[in-house]
Amino acid sequence: MYNSKITGLGYYVPDNVVTNDDLSKLMDTNDAWIQERTGIKERRWVKPGSEDTTSVMGVKAAKVAIERAGIDKDDIDLIVFATLSPDFYFPGPGVQVQKALDIKTVGAIDIRNQCSGFIYGLSVADQFIKTGMYKNVLVIGSEIHSKGLDLTTRGRGVSVIFGDGAGAAILSRTEDNSKGILSTHLHSEGEHAEELALTAPGMGTRWVNDILKDNDPNDESYYPHMNGQFVFKNAVVRFSEVIMEGLSTNKLGPDAIDMLIPHQANLRISQFIQKKFKLTDDQVFNNIMKYGNTTAASIPIALTEAWEQGKIKEGDTVVLAAFGSGFTWGSAIIKW
Ligand code: UT7
Repeated sequence: MYNSKITGLGYYVPDNVVTNDDLSKLMDTNDAWIQERTGIKERRWVKPGSEDTTSVMGVKAAKVAIERAGIDKDDIDLIVFATLSPDFYFPGPGVQVQKALDIKTVGAIDIRNQCSGFIYGLSVADQFIKTGMYKNVLVIGSEIHSKGLDLTTRGRGVSVIFGDGAGAAILSRTEDNSKGILSTHLHSEGEHAEELALTAPGMGTRWVNDILKDNDPNDESYYPHMNGQFVFKNAVVRFSEVIMEGLSTNKLGPDAIDMLIPHQANLRISQFIQKKFKLTDDQVFNNIMKYGNTTAASIPIALTEAWEQGKIKEGDTVVLAAFGSGFTWGSAIIKW
């Protein structure tokens, strides 16, 4: 039986820094509220007119990961792209990456699991490698939120949270079963699909013809909607559960965690988990202060930064965990 191992990591964020004070010029908000409720100080938003799109940023992150993995682009057997903000409604960005990287005719899968997208993508890649079907899989999480947020006071409960960016990993086959992805755990609860959602345009709600016909400037359905407190309460429960599930599957306890990389949803959520599992500041990586919540990109960006800063060492037990829209949630337990 083969195992899969992360052999390369990369990330890319746009240069344009948007501070909380910048947002307070657009809507009724302030730095103190945002920092106290979320931990966010600033985020990156693509500049209007920039060349960066979700797929372009994904390609930039992927190029770094490919180089660090020491492989050629033509060694990639499959592309897995997680995003909630694709360049086009269809096709998904996986094929755009395939074109941009000029990788023959490999398969490209698009993952639609929002904040849990990278873990879902990692899990898909892991299965293909463990069964022996593929040797190298490129997994990307990339998002552009800034183009689709309600930047008026009406949207402040959502729009101050989200940022743009991309992260990527190369997952490669290894025959060393003591290292790599030990297990992944995926869950969802569709009952709460509309608690954090963007419902239009959608074939089940309002498609483009309806929107054009109504031409209603007060229509909020093309902005993300979030029942913040309800999402928060579910997040802390599900994060804890899915981390424990992963640890128990591998006969480990919370004391085995060397590095926890939580999806960067809210610093208060990460702090709750840290306290619950009695982890030190060095055992939990947070960068939401700089980037906000970048949904599918948040874990690969954080994982790359933690690795670049020397905070992940060979032999470490690394835990990834995410929760978000769907609801969907998941974890991955990795022996580095
Ligand atoms: O990544 C996917 C998973 N996402 C999450 O896990 C996010 C979970 N939820 C959260 O992080 C938090 O619920 C938020 C950060 C979104 C909101 O924080 P909160 O402490 O739950 O605030 P709230 O929504 O209960 O709002 C409290 C007050 C309200 O005013 P009133 O009704 O008390 O007068 C809001 O109108 O804060 C007001 N408010 C704001 N004030 C200044 C909401 N947004 C803002 C804002 N600036 N940006």
